Amino acid sequence: MNVENASARLDQKMGRLAGKTALITGAARGIGFSFARAYIDEGAAVAIADIDFDRATRSASELGDSCHAIRFDVTDPTSIEHGVVAAVDTLGGIDILINNAALFTAASIVDIDRDDFDSVFAVNVGGVLFTMQAVAKHMIERGQGGKIINMASQAGRRGEPMVAVYCATKAAVISLTQSAGLDLIKHRINVNAISPGVVDGEHWDGVDGHFARLENKQPGQKKAEVGALVPYGRMGTADDLTGMAVFLATDEANYVVAQTYNVDGGQWMS
Ligand SMILES: NC(=O)c1ccc[n+]([C@@H]2O[C@H](COP(=O)([O-])OP(=O)(O)OC[C@H]3O[C@@H](n4cnc5c(N)ncnc54)[C@H](O)[C@@H]3O)[C@@H](O)[C@H]2O)c1
Repeated sequence: MNVENASARLDQKMGRLAGKTALITGAARGIGFSFARAYIDEGAAVAIADIDFDRATRSASELGDSCHAIRFDVTDPTSIEHGVVAAVDTLGGIDILINNAALFTAASIVDIDRDDFDSVFAVNVGGVLFTMQAVAKHMIERGQGGKIINMASQAGRRGEPMVAVYCATKAAVISLTQSAGLDLIKHRINVNAISPGVVDGEHWDGVDGHFARLENKQPGQKKAEVGALVPYGRMGTADDLTGMAVFLATDEANYVVAQTYNVDGGQWMS
């Protein structure tokens, strides 16, 4: 390929989301932040909608003028309503929603705390459902369709002895993706999900800490163990997931409806 063709192909690739707008919850750090950067690299304008507004502000300024921070608590109906209005005002409409915010918790069945259960379900399930509802209403009213991507997990594919609550929330995300996907496609809103495996970062630093306590492990030991079990040979990185997040947001994915895609180095097959 000559240099001119290579550069034309690069321009085309870089613009796969040119003119599009995206609201990404929980994007102040981690996977959501990598999605925000990838979307901006592809030409989109992005609202980072996070409960940690200070960090969202710092993260948005790192990504430049096309990125905006929005104060957003996915468990609070008023915050969702105001956050969606703010995103619509700032971006001029929402073409893409990524429901990415989540909490993790770990305990044996006999030790699960009801308040902990309530707060993790409120973010991981209620947050996904009611943010999706608010943005879908906007998309329907606007009449231009849209793309909604929910963050599931391999934890939603099967239970784990110490992770019952988190696993149940992610199974619920897969189910909600199917129901919403089938319901909303008549409005040309595609709802799909990404199911990562184990992705290194601050989230997994916390998971590693839980297992150090619960299974009497050294710091870093659980990460090394799970990484060694991945067929690809290592834990994932947030950047390993961005290709799927971009694809599902483009017109190339118009005929993809109500699916959950594993992006996990070969951990899970379904
Ligand atoms: N990291 C992994 O190994 C892994 C694996 C499978 C699935 N996932 C999923 O991918 C997504 C992103 O994971 P991550 O590793 O980047 O997580 P993370 O913990 O690093 O980031 C989560 C973000 O959500 C925000 N948040 C928490 N509660 C919120 C609320 N009420 N309202 C708005 N924002 C809130 C946090 O401030 C944070 O910025 C999550 O849905 C997670 O369950 C992660």
